[in-house]
Amino acid sequence: MNISEVITSRRTIKKFTSEEVDKGVILEWLQRARFAPNHKMTEPWQILFVGEKTRAELKHKTNFGDASKIIAVLSHKGRNQIERDENLSAVSCFIQNFMLQAWDEGVGTFWSSVGSSSLGRKTLGVSEDYEVAGVLAIGYSDEIMAPKERASIEEKITYLD
Ligand SMILES: Cc1cc2nc3c(=O)[nH]c(=O)nc-3n(C[C@H](O)[C@H](O)[C@H](O)COP(=O)(O)O)c2cc1C
Repeated sequence: MNISEVITSRRTIKKFTSEEVDKGVILEWLQRARFAPNHKMTEPWQILFVGEKTRAELKHKTNFGDASKIIAVLSHKGRNQIERDENLSAVSCFIQNFMLQAWDEGVGTFWSSVGSSSLGRKTLGVSEDYEVAGVLAIGYSDEIMAPKERASIEEKITYLD
């Protein structure tokens, strides 16, 4: 796929097949996701590979659609609110880089907020210095939903003099 096709065809996947996703390819996508823009080269991301015990303790309502692998992506809070916001922006770019590579290679993802609750943070053992940007379910898609309507970009643009 070219980049336009990857961006526009990607979908959140909520139902996965039982086929395993190789840890090696996940590591490759993470390696390349590092090229996300990040102010002052803070490289604010940390990744947790979530094992079976922790996964069960997260008590996700659909068990992440039975995804093969679960990772949590953390963002360093930095020294002040500006750094915190910028770091979270960088980590969001990191996550999108990851999801797009996975999609390009036939693997679906589901970005869940389950890690940001106090129970989620505790279960993942996240220190005060980090926030949980997302918990990502990773697997081969069993069902691909139709694209969700987006507002026209013209509605979102203001042209300044
Ligand atoms: C920061 C963030 C948190 C999200 N958390 C959840 C979530 O907790 N549960 C969920 O069903 N989807 C979650 N999503 C996925 C969105 O619902 C999804 O991207 C949106 O519906 C658009 O669908 P698409 O990704 O297939 O285009 C999250 C997405 C982002 C960016």
